Amino acid sequence: MIDLFAGCGGMTSGFAAAGGYRQAMAVEWDLHAAATYAANFGEDHIRWSDIAAVPDDAIPEVDVIVGGPPCQGFSNLGSKDVDDPRNSLWREYLRFVRRARPAVFVIENVDRFLASTEFALLQAETEGYELSYGILLAADFGVPQRRRRTIVIGSRIGRIPLPTPTHARERWHTVGDVLRGLPEQPLTTSLPGSVVEFFGRELPGPFKSPELHIGRNPTPMSLERYRHIPPGGGRFDLPVELLPRCWREKKTGTTDVMGRMRWDQPSLTIRTEFYKPEKGRYLHPQWEPGEDGHRVDRPITHLEAARLQSFPDDFEWCGSKISVARQIGNAVPPGLARAIAEHLKVYLAGAAAGAHGCRLCG
Ligand SMILES: C[S@@+](CC[C@H](N)C(=O)[O-])C[C@H]1O[C@@H](n2cnc3c(N)ncnc32)[C@H](O)[C@@H]1O
Repeated sequence: MIDLFAGCGGMTSGFAAAGGYRQAMAVEWDLHAAATYAANFGEDHIRWSDIAAVPDDAIPEVDVIVGGPPCQGFSNLGSKDVDDPRNSLWREYLRFVRRARPAVFVIENVDRFLASTEFALLQAETEGYELSYGILLAADFGVPQRRRRTIVIGSRIGRIPLPTPTHARERWHTVGDVLRGLPEQPLTTSLPGSVVEFFGRELPGPFKSPELHIGRNPTPMSLERYRHIPPGGGRFDLPVELLPRCWREKKTGTTDVMGRMRWDQPSLTIRTEFYKPEKGRYLHPQWEPGEDGHRVDRPITHLEAARLQSFPDDFEWCGSKISVARQIGNAVPPGLARAIAEHLKVYLAGAAAGAHGCRLCG
């Protein structure tokens, strides 16, 4: 398989866990993310490079291509400019598809992708492939997070439907399932000082997920704000005197900011700045009312975010605190990727068996 825009390798992690796939190539231009990928899956096949700089003759023939072209051009939170150069990166993705001729390709993107002009063009330019697409909810596949993502499956071995949910709502994994038992107060605010070399460069790492249980130093004002917010609550629970001016003037919308998680539900989407409570529902779920109530007044740590994204604790991370957070928030949850990988395996095996006339050999 080839993983394009591979990031830290969330997608590859799921495919590796499913078994039966061999990584032939990955492409990622961010040094820290590429190093994380290399630390976990090997430096031999990852190219730390702009995808546009990979020559055609370097692209191997493979069975599967996966990848998430960057989505800020489509995202509700980013610009909606259809001329955003990031939108045209899907053309690079298609160049790989044309060259590698995979049996199957998978595109992951934000939910708005399906409504974009680029998606319409993509449909017009994937001749020979039958497309299935829709929005999958990570929680439906055992990930303790309500992350909605567009998944497109292109196949030239017959149409492959999207995978069906493995976890009904009453079996969703929750924040409590992955955060309970972790120390409530992180002992440090920085990553260990270790340094590693990848691609001839020295950079911070590798860090095991438990080393990512790092806290912050909130101001007394921030702590006072966190104190007022119960599970499921957010900025609307703050007394007027604690509201920053921008929120005082903006009486509707951005309901999740300064939000607190609930123990018994999946989290909302973990984005790249989960360590800033003013950006989403990222406060630790432990909260009891009253002066003596047992509260954990802090945003989630990098370890907690990685677990909510379903990364295994033995995953290794490289880069600065900000970079590792970006890698975590950008990733396809390995649990969702694994479900997709296991689903595809059935069709790939069927096609392989069919190719020499025996469906039992797959
Ligand atoms: C949404 S993230 C992909 C996450 C990844 N699929 C995962 O599961 O971890 C998109 C990645 O594309 C990378 N990227 C953006 N433009 C690129 C380019 N021109 N060439 C190579 N990588 C690029 C970004 O650095 C980012 O890591």
